[in-house]
This record gives sequence, structure tokens and C-alpha cells, in this order.
Amino acid sequence: MKIISNPLALKEHLKDIDKTVGFVPTMGALHEGHIALIKRAKEENEVVVVSIFVNPTQFLAGEDLEKYPKKDEADKKICKLAGVDVLFFPNASDIYTQDEVKICAPNVRGYVLEGATRPGHFSGVLRVVMKLLNIVSPTRAYFGKKDAQQLNLIGLMVKQFFMSVEIVPVDIVRDSDGLALSSRNIYLSNEERKEALKIPKSLYIASQLIGKNIVHTQKIKKAMLEVLAPLSIEYVEVLNRDFEVIKEVEVGNTVILVEVIVGKTRLLDNIWL
Ligand code: PAF
Repeated sequence: MKIISNPLALKEHLKDIDKTVGFVPTMGALHEGHIALIKRAKEENEVVVVSIFVNPTQFLAGEDLEKYPKKDEADKKICKLAGVDVLFFPNASDIYTQDEVKICAPNVRGYVLEGATRPGHFSGVLRVVMKLLNIVSPTRAYFGKKDAQQLNLIGLMVKQFFMSVEIVPVDIVRDSDGLALSSRNIYLSNEERKEALKIPKSLYIASQLIGKNIVHTQKIKKAMLEVLAPLSIEYVEVLNRDFEVIKEVEVGNTVILVEVIVGKTRLLDNIWL
């Protein structure tokens, strides 16, 4: 596995590679969810590139940028074992300059849900993903469905900027207790982790109701809120896959999303129906 930190050196390395390239952008602290992205990229491409970069522009002031989990050596081993060909490991100064052309998240889809409580977060995500995609020029790029709003906005950016990459959504990976894997789960105490299990439970209740043909979104949200109480709920939403409000679940075109703060940890989860 080659480790490269300079964007131009990586571009040079990939320049004449007449092969399909699968790209998995990450912020490190790799877990089974990331490994699932890498495995999928390996199945579908001849060369796999992973990036590890804790992107400062997607953290708001006062968020966990400084204490975001860092496991550089373990991450390198995981990538090597997973058969990654190139690990891109830049510093902030390799990626950003002082006075930049910026790309911003759209007002409607970028400033609702997570974007409402973290204004500017998705602009930071799009800025870095645009840069990373331009550096790697992959055939396909792999993103987890857990960050459903991020995935939706990246899909929009790629479409609207006529970028030549296929965005591949990959299913959420859960721990044996049902909690969606996240690098931030390590912040949870044992007690908080028990509380956090209300999140997958609320989604399970929603799917049970839909299975019984109870499809009215307000009823589903009410049942989920009852399961989640008294956690600090950022949002519970039942939307179509364009992130628009719907009155009834449309099977094949619905996503149910939850964001909750447990202790000081922001946890996201969702199901796609
Ligand atoms: O999902 C993440 O880990 C990050 O938001 C991403 C896509 C790597 C951009 O920094």
C-alpha cells in the first residue's frame, strides 16, 4: 500500500492508471462501516484509494474537531489488511489555502435537519468532497447511508457540477446491539450507550408500523418520539428520497431519519424504505 500526503503527487501517481478507481473518503478512526465501504470498492474496481482527513471546515466552532478520534497507525493497518492500494493522508495545509473559491450547500436541502443545527457543516463537507474527488478522479466513490443527508447533497453536487463519478451508497453497518457504527460511538459511556439503543429501537418501531400498513408520517413520528423520550432529540423526520416532507410513507421512496444527542455525542441513524 502506497501512502501519499501531497495532492499533486497523488494526481501524478494516478494519472496514467488505465484502470477503474474506487474511492472511499473518510475522517479516519476506521470501523466495520468503513471496511464495508472499502470491500465494496474492491469488489467493483481495480484500484482502491482511501483518504483519511479530518476536515476542519465541516466542524462548527465549539464542536469536537480537536478531540475527534485519531487512530492513524491502526487505520493504516486496517487499510493495508483490507487491500487498499493507495492511502491519501493529507494535512489541512495540503488541502486548503488562505483565500479560496468556496462551494456552498444549497439553502433548502443543506440547511434543514443536521444543517439546521450545524449551519455551514454541509458547505464544509461539499468543499472537501469536491476537492478530494478532483484529486483522485475516481470511477466510483463510496459513502455510507448513515449520513443520508450528506449522501444526498453529494449526489446533487456531482449531478449539478456535471462531475464524472458514480456515487455509490452503502448500507449502514450496525453493532450486535443494533447501534449504527460511528467513529463517535467511542465517546459514549456504558450508560449512554444503553440510552442510545433507543435510536435503532425507534426505527424498528417505525418499520413495524409500516409493516402493519400504518403509513401516516405524523403517527410514525409520534410513535418514534415516544420511544426516544427523554433523549435530547434534534429531529425525527419521515421524508421522501429528495428530502421533501411527505404525508404518507411511499415504499421505495422514503427515508426515516433520527438525530439525537446522547450526553454530548451527536448520533445519526436512518432507514430507507
Ligand atoms: O462522512 C465523512 O466521514 C466525511 O463527512 C467525509 C465525507 C469524509 C468528508 O470529510
